[in-house]
Amino acid sequence: MNLEKYFEKNREIFQLIYGIFLIILIPLLIFYNTFFIIKNYNKSIDVSLHRHSLSIGRSVLPYIEEKIDKQEITQERIEKLLKNNSELLELSVAIKNDEDFIVVASSNKEELEKKYNNYFYQFSFNQKINDGIAIDSLNIDNDKKVEDERYWKIGMPLTKNGKKIGVLSMKTSSKIVDELTRENRNKSLYLLFAEIIIVVLFILLAVRFWDYILLYKKIKELDEMKDEFISIASHELRTPVTGIKGYSSMILDGSFGEVNEKTRNAAKTILSASERLGTLVDDLLNVSRIEQGRMEINIKKQNVYETVDSVYNELKIQADEKKLELKFNSNKKEWPEINIDEEKLKQILINLIGNSIKYTKKGSIIISNYIKDNKFLAISIKDTGIGMDEEERRRLFQKFYRVKNENTKKIVGTGLGLWITKQIVELMGGNIFVDSIKGTGSEFTIIFPIIKK
Ligand SMILES: Nc1ncnc2c1ncn2[C@@H]1O[C@H](COP(=O)(O)OP(=O)(O)O)[C@@H](O)[C@H]1O
Ligand SMILES: [Mg+2]
Repeated sequence: MNLEKYFEKNREIFQLIYGIFLIILIPLLIFYNTFFIIKNYNKSIDVSLHRHSLSIGRSVLPYIEEKIDKQEITQERIEKLLKNNSELLELSVAIKNDEDFIVVASSNKEELEKKYNNYFYQFSFNQKINDGIAIDSLNIDNDKKVEDERYWKIGMPLTKNGKKIGVLSMKTSSKIVDELTRENRNKSLYLLFAEIIIVVLFILLAVRFWDYILLYKKIKELDEMKDEFISIASHELRTPVTGIKGYSSMILDGSFGEVNEKTRNAAKTILSASERLGTLVDDLLNVSRIEQGRMEINIKKQNVYETVDSVYNELKIQADEKKLELKFNSNKKEWPEINIDEEKLKQILINLIGNSIKYTKKGSIIISNYIKDNKFLAISIKDTGIGMDEEERRRLFQKFYRVKNENTKKIVGTGLGLWITKQIVELMGGNIFVDSIKGTGSEFTIIFPIIKK
């Protein structure tokens, strides 16, 4: 817990460290990977160049050995070979004389007659017949490196009648291959830099993303706190509201003795205000119950004709007061059985019919029932009220949403009724729809699956 708090407090620093760590580590890994590949690639190129050099030597060898006794012809052949083969840089023949090797023919005239007794000659001479050594110039200490051009030095034993008599030495160029390799390496380096830039950008983005996750967590926490607050506040409000309601109605019905007209009016105002407050508290309680999954529903298979009829009778008084015609003409036999919580259905109907009464200035409200698609019992409440446009219809079932215009300005409400209604309808396996024309009227329909006998 303490650690968590510490982390939370120093969040930005940790995030920074984390970001820097990733920004260094990941490009480093990519870097290492690329260089590893380049290195291995170069190694395998060298292996094949080594083989290639030796095979050049093997193809030249018999041609030289053929006239090894005739120094002039050998010299001619060497010159010819060099002319026709751009890979060949130098070619010389040295014959062993005691411990020394004397150059008898060479593409480099200066070499002629020179005596050598070095490792290269010794080593080459000691190779198996038709085999040889090939060393690239970077590994030869004594030779100065030619800028941008690497060459290979090849040495093979020369034979006459199956006996070693000297050494054939050659220099070949690997310029073409090396140039290709260099080009490839440069290309992969460019790619490497592009990759690193992309990765760094991604990491920067990911670090930002982390911020969003934390923000999301915070919002969720706040949301939970809000739910808890609503739950506690509404519970605590309920008792005093019931008290106010009870005492004001007791004043009105004369429980505390006769009251004059003025006091009566004041008590009436207190009663209606506390009733409104009571509805608000009930709505809030319902919201918190639904949100916390604590809404209890007692479903029973039943015919709901009487339930609808009782709500109709209850609200008829309200409609009459507003001089609205509330109609419900039905017959119990028309009602198939459905699985439903009777109290909750009452609550739904009070909300919907109550809204129709609230948002209708003159005309009628008709409650009707029918069978939809052979599968559902539909109950519809149709009014000739202020109606809604498309945008209003779309947001209708959102929590706290209320249409705000000249027509609704003076009507009080919380915007919770329809949200609660929809939640309860769905909890009981039903559905709710609305159909409305602005200025003409609205029709709300709830449907519930019919239980097949
Ligand atoms: N029958 C209706 N006719 C016109 N508008 C309605 C009707 N029923 C609901 N509304 C609109 O939908 C909004 C949300 O309804 P509701 O959730 O019951 O909240 P409240 O009634 O507390 O305002 C209302 O404010 C009103 O603008
Ligand atoms: Mg309402």
